[in-house]
Amino acid sequence: VSRVGSRRITTIEGLSPDGTHPVQQAWLEHDVAQCGYCQVGQIMSAAALLARNPSPSDAEIDAAMDGNICRCGTYVRIHAAIKTAAAKRG
Ligand code: FES
Repeated sequence: VSRVGSRRITTIEGLSPDGTHPVQQAWLEHDVAQCGYCQVGQIMSAAALLARNPSPSDAEIDAAMDGNICRCGTYVRIHAAIKTAAAKRG
């Protein structure tokens, strides 16, 4: 938190007031979530990736999402949802 300083922070609640962010919609389309424990971090990491790189390669998605652990093993659906969100944004 100390590294953030006075920079702006977007939380999952601030991503979209009505759940219509392309990443949120893609998550629903791919039925990504299982228990949900990791999903806030996954969604926010994906949204940040697409904000700086609207059309990421598979390797760029893997690199950006590295470190987000999902004990339910939703990685394949997460990857597919990010590709879908990128396509809808693009
Ligand atoms: Fe359960 Fe990721 S959905 S830990």
